[in-house]
Amino acid sequence: MMYKVAIVLLVFSLVEANRFRAEYPGPYCASRRYDKCCRERQDGCSQPISTTLCYCDEFCERGEHGDCCPDYEEVCLGISPDPVYAPCTHNGHRFTPFDPPVVDNCNTCKCNNDGTKTCTDDVCLVDNELLKQLGHLERSVGWKATNYSEWWGHKYDEGKVMRLGTFYPKIKVKSMSRLTNGQDHLPTHFDATNYWPGFIGEVKDQGWCGSSWAVSTASVASDRFAILSKGREIVRLAPQQIISCVRRSQGCSGGHLDTAWNYFRRVGTVNEECYPYISAHNVCKIRPSDTLVTANCELPTKVDRTNMYKMGPAFSLNNETDIMIEIKKHGPVQAIMRVHRDFFSYRSGIYRHSAASTSADQRAGYHSVRLIGWGEERQGYEVTKYWIAVNSWGTWWGENGRFRILRGSNECEIESYVLASLPYVHQQVKPMRQVGDLQEMIVGTGYVPHPSRRYPPYGRRSG
Ligand SMILES: *[C@@H]1O[C@H](CO)[C@@H](O)[C@H](O)[C@H]1NC(C)=O
Ligand SMILES: *[C@@H]1O[C@H](CO)[C@@H](O)[C@H](O)[C@H]1NC(C)=O
Repeated sequence: MMYKVAIVLLVFSLVEANRFRAEYPGPYCASRRYDKCCRERQDGCSQPISTTLCYCDEFCERGEHGDCCPDYEEVCLGISPDPVYAPCTHNGHRFTPFDPPVVDNCNTCKCNNDGTKTCTDDVCLVDNELLKQLGHLERSVGWKATNYSEWWGHKYDEGKVMRLGTFYPKIKVKSMSRLTNGQDHLPTHFDATNYWPGFIGEVKDQGWCGSSWAVSTASVASDRFAILSKGREIVRLAPQQIISCVRRSQGCSGGHLDTAWNYFRRVGTVNEECYPYISAHNVCKIRPSDTLVTANCELPTKVDRTNMYKMGPAFSLNNETDIMIEIKKHGPVQAIMRVHRDFFSYRSGIYRHSAASTSADQRAGYHSVRLIGWGEERQGYEVTKYWIAVNSWGTWWGENGRFRILRGSNECEIESYVLASLPYVHQQVKPMRQVGDLQEMIVGTGYVPHPSRRYPPYGRRSG
């Protein structure tokens, strides 16, 4: 034991001594004119070093409390030194090969033996250059950026993998039969949280886990359960179950939205309290044959449900008007968006992709978010239309976790792949009124038939 401690101390002091010599190359004892080295204690046998003195007498060797000059061992004891390393500097910080690498935002620099340094050269999620550019562009793009400390120290690639997590849809899925809603009167402003108070789920924080594919799906499904059950089934469904139980998905490394919706249709999920979000992949603890009872979940109080919460098949929405009608009728929808680097630093306003830092930005990532409403902003004669979207990065980001984004111009592809589905709410909400009226039928049963020939209104374009 003692032996071990001694070795550790020795190694440590060697490193210290080398660092000392690298910082103060001298010469000291070697530059004394007459007696380079002195016997016993001679306080005059010293040389100035930095703001103090170092000594070349025998007394200077007192282990840890020694005050020998850096070249004492070499000059006075004839011990040939290890090679002396020149220190490196980075952003005014001096360090030697014996120091840990210096961290500079998402990059690190280590000092080489020849005094040069080797730094990684990755694009960071945020840097002062990007923030400066966004500051200059603020007035022309119409949104404000801010410096979120959460993003510092992370690479842009890391942000794309761990903060997004939706794969671009395969063509086959993208051409999923679209639902065309009839023309309705649509207000200029609509916000689901005001229209259905208490029914719209809070802002999630997916953490450093590329799970937006599961989180946005579970959030849209939860909102729709509350809305279409008229408040009888206010439930937060468990994205963790989708992350951990969907086979062939990659959990925190992203997933396909159709996979999440298919799981919701075939198996369904339990509530969040029963399968809490841990922001990582873990072993699936729900079998497809489970019920809320066999899965040991607390049962809802307002309905006598024991089955897991299932959704009907997902459908995609055609265009701006269709999306708006769907939100107003049945609640929030899910949208895929292409995320550029500037989006991470969004603070407020109506987002559109800016020209800032485009070179670093070639490979954008895909994300999925909840669209919960829309509005427009007037400035003079100019009207800017926007969507109100909910992100899953927590309330510290954006406008309390939400953001607004340009509407009607497919900004960041936000209108190109919008999905929704209807829940199997537990009880009949409303009797069917008119056979053939699609919307009534859906509300009436809480069930969406698969877009197939059996129900002509599905899958057919109007006109
Ligand atoms: C942003 O914050 C980081 C620390 O979190 C700081 O190092 C950096 O200088 C800040 N940049 C700006 C432009 O305020
Ligand atoms: C959206 O699509 C529907 C039918 O597919 C069409 O009637 C409507 O005019 C379209 N609206 C816009 C704004 O393109």
